[in-house]
Amino acid sequence: MSTLPTDTEANSGSDPRFAASDGSLAARIEDLRRQIREHDYRYYVLDSPTISDAAYDALFRELRTLEALAPHLISPDSPTQRVGGDIATTFAPVQHIVPMLSLDNAFGEGELRDWDGRIKRMLGLDPASPIVYAAELKIDGLSISVTYERGSLSRAATRGNGVTGEDVTPNVRTVRSIPLRLSAQDNRPVPELIEVRGEVYLPHNEFARINQENEETGAPTFANPRNAAAGSLRQKDPRVTASRGLEAFFYAVGAADGFAVDSQIELLETYKAWGLRVNPHTRRCHGINEVIAFTAEWQERRHALPYDTDGVVVKVDSVALQADLGFVSRSPRWAIAFKYPTEQVRTKVERIVVQVGMTGALTPVAELTPVRVGGVVVSRATLHNEDEIRRKDVRIGDTVVVQRAGEVIPEIVEVVTSERDGSEIEFVMPASCPACGSPVLRNPGEAVVRCPAPDCPEKVRQKLQHFVSRDAMDIESLGGKRLDQLIDARLVRDAADLYDLTVEQLLPLDRMGERLASSIIAAIAASKTRPLSRLVFALGIRHVGSHTADILADHFGSLEVIMEAGEAELSAIHEIGPAIARSVAAYFADPTNRDLVRRLRERGLRTTADAPVRIGSALAGKTVVFTGTLETMSRSEAEALVKRHGGRASGSVSRQTDIVVAGPGAGSKLAKAQSLGVPVMDEASFFSLIGELPVSG
Ligand code: IVH
Repeated sequence: MSTLPTDTEANSGSDPRFAASDGSLAARIEDLRRQIREHDYRYYVLDSPTISDAAYDALFRELRTLEALAPHLISPDSPTQRVGGDIATTFAPVQHIVPMLSLDNAFGEGELRDWDGRIKRMLGLDPASPIVYAAELKIDGLSISVTYERGSLSRAATRGNGVTGEDVTPNVRTVRSIPLRLSAQDNRPVPELIEVRGEVYLPHNEFARINQENEETGAPTFANPRNAAAGSLRQKDPRVTASRGLEAFFYAVGAADGFAVDSQIELLETYKAWGLRVNPHTRRCHGINEVIAFTAEWQERRHALPYDTDGVVVKVDSVALQADLGFVSRSPRWAIAFKYPTEQVRTKVERIVVQVGMTGALTPVAELTPVRVGGVVVSRATLHNEDEIRRKDVRIGDTVVVQRAGEVIPEIVEVVTSERDGSEIEFVMPASCPACGSPVLRNPGEAVVRCPAPDCPEKVRQKLQHFVSRDAMDIESLGGKRLDQLIDARLVRDAADLYDLTVEQLLPLDRMGERLASSIIAAIAASKTRPLSRLVFALGIRHVGSHTADILADHFGSLEVIMEAGEAELSAIHEIGPAIARSVAAYFADPTNRDLVRRLRERGLRTTADAPVRIGSALAGKTVVFTGTLETMSRSEAEALVKRHGGRASGSVSRQTDIVVAGPGAGSKLAKAQSLGVPVMDEASFFSLIGELPVSG
């Protein structure tokens, strides 16, 4: 099954750091995998991570490095193997071993009570004695069946028609909350073969992010998270799926060799013990009244969840009773889907305004008479683009039906044309930019209209706002109005201008004193040393979010190198798709942007990743390894500190290691250091060695 490289010349063990025998390398690799799986489990299943993202990333990086040195040790269920090179998803037909069933629906309390009555009659039970049910949230995504053989994920398929689905294995492997391997627990062995069933879905924040990106690029937007989840799973290129942030919950079983549980609740507990993510809100209910109370409670609470639910699935808890009840056509008699009505309300379109984004995209937005829907007050709804307005025929003054698509983004479902009185006005996309008056352009094949003027004040403002924002250069004192003042006073036109500002220039501005002006100048100056990844993100290149910026910074190490990379070189990078590659290459092909980068560099901004300001030489030429828990800094801060003092941080101990800094919980690395006679110190001694004080708090 593996298509991984088994032979490369570059990994013949010539790296002196890894002179250790293959055996100890293998042991370290296994140890790292175990740790990463454990942390994945804590993060995704238990929802209580015990290490920082940076520390996790360090483990992951170390594993990648070691596996690159010893590719023959790579196994398909290694955490590094979620995206398997160039394996495309085939969607080949897959016969489910046990068919995937669908459920009957119940609308309203009455239909639930009828169902409860029916199954009691069928089981010959006293109508007054309560049945025990498992009440689960009905996740609004796509059902999938994931097969594990000897504990390893071997195949994943969509439901299809229930009997035959489509093979989506490479895509499902990229979903981080789906384990590549199940871990047996003491009293819960994993069967030789099992089909586990569940729902793949897209959380609200990811849905919003993807749609925003699509809006910017003129790609079609998704109407709701369910469609977006389906679109993300139906990708030929698993790297695209990987970038989409899908998640999953498991709730049912198909085929399972010699595996039996007594109840649905026990099934879920077993899944959780094996490392499968189960929804935490499932409740065991005694009788239908408790089930109804559960549905009523979640009718409101569901709006606060970070994903969509469209109802409650009610299951007879006892597996023995389930067997007695059996099936009718394609549905089990022992389960039913209680559906919430999607809340829709009417309101009026008061105006349609046009917003200009930092890439110049013009987005029409409907301003609505404020109305409560799905638990929040809605007063605006994006209309995406002109085509969308035409399709729905939304006019100013129309009465419209709105709903919150995916419970987050308000959406106009339809126009109530019977409410029209002839006074409604059709919206016309302006032919010129509302901010600068330049004629707008629409590229063939794109739904988005753009303002092409490089100096459009709204584009300039949005770009600068993005540049100083928290995840970018984080120049807090320039938030909101302050930046507008600078732009209005024509003191800044682009990001590089910020670094030329002087206290004297700021003083004449409204509500500006000497002290404030100095602190703004100081904050701007302080941003010069932000890591390269932030600068890359801050440039506001289309498609380059902070994660992509991290990847680019890591891969190329300097802005100058990123600038020269061609589209082909860019798209060869793991997780960089063709749209990102095209956009990055186009950005740096533009002389204005190249000039901006040059000016930023001239003003002293850091454009390299690994040449941080050297502030000491206590560690010159030394290799330092950190192990165990660090108490005053993250792993990446620690590593940065080593670099700043002239040293090199490494993830593993060898004869070449000069110092091991060990914190509580240090294990194999500490033992190895001791056996090799490498000096070991604690964090406090490390700080006194480099002559710095730990950052407190
Ligand atoms: S049980 C026999 N449980 O709803 C078991 N389904 O309308 C069949 N769904 O196809 C499924 N959350 O895609 C079950 N907690 C849950 C669910 C759930 C969402 C979906 C699933 C199914 C559909 C049935």
